[in-house]
Amino acid sequence: MRSLIDILDFSPEELQELIDTANDIIEHPAFYSDKCRGRKLATLFYEPSTRTRLSFEAAMYELGGNVLGFSEANSSSAAKGESVADTAKTVSCYADIIAMRHPKEGAPLVAAMNASIPVINAGDGGHNHPTQTLADLLTIYREKGGFENLTVGFCGDLKFGRTVHSLISALSRYKGLKVVLISPVELKLPSYVKKEVLAARSIPYIQTTDLESIMPELDILYMTRVQRERFFNEEDYLRLKDSYILTPEKLKNAKQDLAILHPLPRVNEISVAIDDDPRACYFKQVLYGKYMRMALILKLLKEAGRL
Ligand code: NCD
Repeated sequence: MRSLIDILDFSPEELQELIDTANDIIEHPAFYSDKCRGRKLATLFYEPSTRTRLSFEAAMYELGGNVLGFSEANSSSAAKGESVADTAKTVSCYADIIAMRHPKEGAPLVAAMNASIPVINAGDGGHNHPTQTLADLLTIYREKGGFENLTVGFCGDLKFGRTVHSLISALSRYKGLKVVLISPVELKLPSYVKKEVLAARSIPYIQTTDLESIMPELDILYMTRVQRERFFNEEDYLRLKDSYILTPEKLKNAKQDLAILHPLPRVNEISVAIDDDPRACYFKQVLYGKYMRMALILKLLKEAGRL
């Protein structure tokens, strides 16, 4: 059974197919409005979410399908001690496809190993978030026309920011990528990502704490929130939370065609004064996420023989 647990589960060609489908949905929404009639998506969210869960739900409704699920662990049988494996087997009896978010790294993989329907990882702990990457990829594709020869700056919490880990993996397969890692020393990209992705594919990267000096080099700036819920103590969070705040002043030396992305939610990392700058792409990114999730649901249901 095909699932999406890690963005590398899909080849670059398959990602391009999803992008092409999403672009076609944007052009011809009516053609897709009935494709999932009678099919059900289960959203199993053991962690808070606004965009990811609602965009999965909106995606399924726009395909003519239905949605069931829960949005808090304590409203499910997890509160009674049920395992993810048993929940996955149970939900396979009710739905055609599962989107799961969980605070534990690897939980969606366990679900996929036990479900008889496709499972989509909607974020697992500080590990991966492949469907946010789908949103990021469509945004980059539409802004830049492709993925080659880009210098991409990742700024903020690179340690716990799962969207960063997944996007770096995805981009690592395109030619000419240069990565700039901008974070406080305590929130550097985990060494397993540096080793298994950047070093393994000989991708040039630099690590710095200084956003402004590197700004003129960047084609894409990917801002992130400091992930409060993953910290062991509040003091560290409070000390680090406002390490980077993007203001119009700091964009003075940026390229005219820079694309500023952020998976959202934003806390303080981007001043609202930037929202009207044509380089701000983060709300488009939200919209594109819905179209990519529609394309993903269609692909996985087809491969599972459920469409
Ligand atoms: C991200 C997440 O959940 O990892 N949010 C999202 O899904 N768009 C980013 C974050 O919470 O900071």
